[in-house]
Amino acid sequence: MARYLITGIAGFIGSSLAHALVDQGHEVCGIDNLSTGNLDNLADIRHAVDFQEMDLQDVSGVQAACEGIDYILHQGALASVPRSVKDPLTSHESNINGTLNLLIAARDAKVRRIVYAASSSAYGDQPTQPKQEDMLPRPLSPYAVQKLTCEYYIQSFYRAYGLEGVCLRYFNIFGPRQAADSPYSGVIAQFTFKMMAGETPTIFGDGLTSRDFNYVDNAVSANLLACLAPSDVATGRVFNIGTGKSHTLNEVYAAIAGQLGFTPKPNYGPPREGDIKHSLADITRASKELGYQPRAHFHEGLKKTVAWYLEEKEKNQTPVLKR
Ligand SMILES: NC(=O)c1ccc[n+]([C@@H]2O[C@H](COP(=O)([O-])OP(=O)(O)OC[C@H]3O[C@@H](n4cnc5c(N)ncnc54)[C@H](O)[C@@H]3O)[C@@H](O)[C@H]2O)c1
Repeated sequence: MARYLITGIAGFIGSSLAHALVDQGHEVCGIDNLSTGNLDNLADIRHAVDFQEMDLQDVSGVQAACEGIDYILHQGALASVPRSVKDPLTSHESNINGTLNLLIAARDAKVRRIVYAASSSAYGDQPTQPKQEDMLPRPLSPYAVQKLTCEYYIQSFYRAYGLEGVCLRYFNIFGPRQAADSPYSGVIAQFTFKMMAGETPTIFGDGLTSRDFNYVDNAVSANLLACLAPSDVATGRVFNIGTGKSHTLNEVYAAIAGQLGFTPKPNYGPPREGDIKHSLADITRASKELGYQPRAHFHEGLKKTVAWYLEEKEKNQTPVLKR
C-alpha cells in the first residue's frame, strides 16, 4: 500500500484516479481549489480520502500536503484551451506557478515520483500524424505553452535534483464525471449534455476535425503504470496516452445522437481559436516502456459515458449537470 497525493482530485480525471486508488486499498490524499472541480465527484469515497481545499500556489499548504507522500498524480490545472486564450494570466498562474510550487515541495519532501498530466496540445500545428513524442512541439494556445513548460520543469527537476517525474501527454480524455455544462467542457460531455436537454450542439469548424478520444479508464491505468515503471525507462520522459485511433466530431455527434435517439442535424460554427485540426497519438513508447494498453475502446467508453449522464440526470443530483 502506498500513499498518493492527487492534485485536482475533485476534477474529472483526478476523481477517477481517486476512485481507482481507493478501490485498490491505497492511502489517498488530495488537494483542489474547486475552481472547476466539485466535491460531489468524490461523494461516495469522501470518507476514504484525506481532502484539503487548497490552491496549488499555496506555498506552506502544498509543502505540508507533500509530507509523507510516495507518489503525486498531478492533475490540477485550468484545463481549457479557450479559457487560456481568453485569460492567459490566470491559466498561467494555476498551471505554471502552481506546478513549480508543487515540484519544489515534492523535491523537499523527497516524494518518490510525480506523474504529470501533460497534454497533446503541445504538438499544436505539427502537421505529421500520428504524433510521436520526439516531434518538435508547436504549441498554439497559452494553455499548450503552459502544459509544455511544466513538462520541461518536471524534466529539469529530475536532472537538477533527482526528483523522479513522468509526463503523460493525454489525448482527449472522456468519461463519467467530466463537467458538461460549461463552454470549457470537453466536446463529448458538451454534446451529451445539450442533446439530453433537447438542444442542438454546435460543431466548431466543418465537423471533420478529429481527435484521439480516450476513455478515462485508460488514463487511470497509464498513471498507475507510470508510478511503478522502472526509473530508467520512465523518469524524465514523455509518453503519449491515447488510443492510436481517431474520430471526427461528426462521428462523435452521430454516435451520441444515436444513443440518445436525438434526430436534429448539428449546427456548425467557426473553428475555435487555438484549436488544431487533427490529433492522433502514436502510443508505441507507452506500450513498450510502461506496458500501457488502451483496453477500453471508444464506442464502449462512449456508451458508458452517455449512460452515466443519463443516470445522473435521472437522479437529478449530478454535480456536472448542476454546475
Ligand atoms: N481531459 C482531457 O482531455 C485532458 C487532456 C490533456 C490534459 N489534461 C490535463 O489533465 C488534468 C485534469 O484535467 P480534467 O479534464 O480532469 O480537468 P478538470 O477541470 O475536471 O480537473 C482539474 C482540477 O484541478 C483543479 N484546479 C485547477 N486549478 C487549480 C489550482 N490552482 N489549485 C488547485 N486545484 C486546481 C480544478 O478545480 C479541478 O478540480 C489537467 O491538468 C489537464 O490539463 C486533460
